[in-house]
Amino acid sequence: MPETVTAGLDTTSDAGLLELITTEDPAQEEALFAEARRLRAEHYGSGVYFRGLIEFSNYCKNDCYYCGIRRSNARAERYRLGPDEILNCCRMGDLLGYKTFVLQSGEDPWFTDDRVVEILAAIRREFPDHAITLSIGEKSRESYERFFHAGANRYLLRHETADDAHYRLLHPASMDLAERKQCLFNLKKIGYQVGAGFMVGTPFQKPEHLLEDLCFIRELRPHMVGIGPFIPQKDTPFGAYPPGSLELTLRMVALARLILPSALIPATTALGTLSPQGREKGLMAGANVVMPNLSPKAVRKLYSLYDNKICTGDEAAECRLCMEGRIRDFGFEPDMSRGDWAAGSRAAN
Ligand code: 5AD
Ligand code: FES
Repeated sequence: MPETVTAGLDTTSDAGLLELITTEDPAQEEALFAEARRLRAEHYGSGVYFRGLIEFSNYCKNDCYYCGIRRSNARAERYRLGPDEILNCCRMGDLLGYKTFVLQSGEDPWFTDDRVVEILAAIRREFPDHAITLSIGEKSRESYERFFHAGANRYLLRHETADDAHYRLLHPASMDLAERKQCLFNLKKIGYQVGAGFMVGTPFQKPEHLLEDLCFIRELRPHMVGIGPFIPQKDTPFGAYPPGSLELTLRMVALARLILPSALIPATTALGTLSPQGREKGLMAGANVVMPNLSPKAVRKLYSLYDNKICTGDEAAECRLCMEGRIRDFGFEPDMSRGDWAAGSRAAN
């Protein structure tokens, strides 16, 4: 079903989208946020889904120029949780009420497919009804199939930028946008609920690149879309570049909601790092998911993709309670259920 021109907001044409990305008209911007909130409410009410995030390794074989855990960053203190520690995080998460575990790491060769499958099987045995989300990077189609059959339900793999030339400015030559996009299509075909996404305000990014991100989202129709501002990490090649803008990031969240009204869209930690109420503003711009940290406190600071990441200190002992309070203050309702993508609406498949 084609999206229609709603509330005077044209999301069907490139020109219309570009205008919404770049508009300096506050009335148009407010109409965009209002429409995003309306669609969010129509599809998900006032609920905000909670996902327990387990950052289980910061070893990475890749060398993305923006990322603090890139291989060449000799100053990153590396850690990796073993299978038992990961399982213990899940147990802790379950006690706290989480029904979704998100297992995220750098592309760490120690975690061979066999090891990942073993870990998934162990979690599945103990938590047959929980959702398991993987976020461990680019793998072969066969690997994705093995993980799926071992119990993974969802997969997060941001495309980062949908423009080839821009992608090459953010990544070494060994990385290829077409391959990354192919991974996303493979994941979808296998049957995962799939999350794509991109950063806002990376070096050299132009409004036209953001337009391409939206067009790619419209083509892929992922179930989830992760959008966060770029934030510099001082030990990376992009350490001296300015962070992305809060306003523009919120605008992209709202546009993702307009393009995929039933998508699951997180209010990201990077948004909360950029601005004290960034995540709450993300919810007001159409997001409907938060991903509090479940990693052991000792390693939280080490998963430093960017500087000054929130939820890494003592105050983060119980992100769930903190997040619940913040959400209620903005009129939303915490929802600890699995929060699968709502079928029957206009996104995906
Ligand atoms: N600023 C913001 N987000 C970043 N990511 C990686 N490095 C940074 C950074 N410096 C994001 C990427 C990745 C996700 C896990 O974190 O989009 O996919
Ligand atoms: Fe993590 Fe508030 S949500 S400390």
